[in-house]
Amino acid sequence: MKKFAFAFLALFLPFTAQAAGGEHNPYIVDAPISLTDKAQLQRGAQLFVNYCFGCHSLKYVRYERMANDLDIPVELLAGNLMINTDKVGSPMLNGLDPAQAKKWFGAPPPDLSLEAKLRGADWVYSYLISFYEDPSRPWGVNNHVFPNVGMPHVMADMQRTLPEEEFKAKMADITAFLEYTAEPIQVTRMVVGGFVIGFLLVLLIFAWLMKREFWKDVH
Ligand code: HEC
Repeated sequence: MKKFAFAFLALFLPFTAQAAGGEHNPYIVDAPISLTDKAQLQRGAQLFVNYCFGCHSLKYVRYERMANDLDIPVELLAGNLMINTDKVGSPMLNGLDPAQAKKWFGAPPPDLSLEAKLRGADWVYSYLISFYEDPSRPWGVNNHVFPNVGMPHVMADMQRTLPEEEFKAKMADITAFLEYTAEPIQVTRMVVGGFVIGFLLVLLIFAWLMKREFWKDVH
């Protein structure tokens, strides 16, 4: 049995070692986001549509579902957030041709529905605040978190004109929104999980009382 346990541990050791010892990029910082902050998510959705949606689609997100989840009135959708469609049940696609985009940027802009799951919210936030000027690159910018990235710094004007804290707050809003799109059910899942654990704990008390009752005469 002991041997088996060691073999089992050995199987997982390489993963834990990698997770603990991997090179840490000092530019990766915690993303100040909260999925229960609807206002933050709404601001993030608006910013995403204005600054990112032209290049990045959200193919696993439907407008109507997003509006319902984020408490955005459906009437507001059509005038403000929807492009390329008038159907609230459509997925959030843009008209970008991936082949053309690859020519322009060197790599097509990936769909970002699941980006926060793929990279983690901290990575996404850090990436958005880590563009810097680099005349040797095609767009004159580079990124500390994603070296030699093909994406232009589309928020350059915003970063230049806003106080740093405000700019970072906006990037956090977008990150929160992408964390939402990566798992829309996340908040519900955690609430339900809490109830389930609570229920099991209460059940445990009764199960224990019953066990005591059943076994009290057995010696
Ligand atoms: C002008 C087009 C364009 C716009 C607008 C744009 N991006 Fe990008 N983005 C790209 C391209 C192209 C890449 C792929 C770069 C590469 O792989 O080198 C990319 C990559 C990314 C990545 C990394 C994807 C990965 O590989 O994991 C993230 C995250 C991202 N963009 C977020 C955003 C956000 C958030 C916005 C809005 C604030 C935005 N982008 C606006 C073109 C754009």
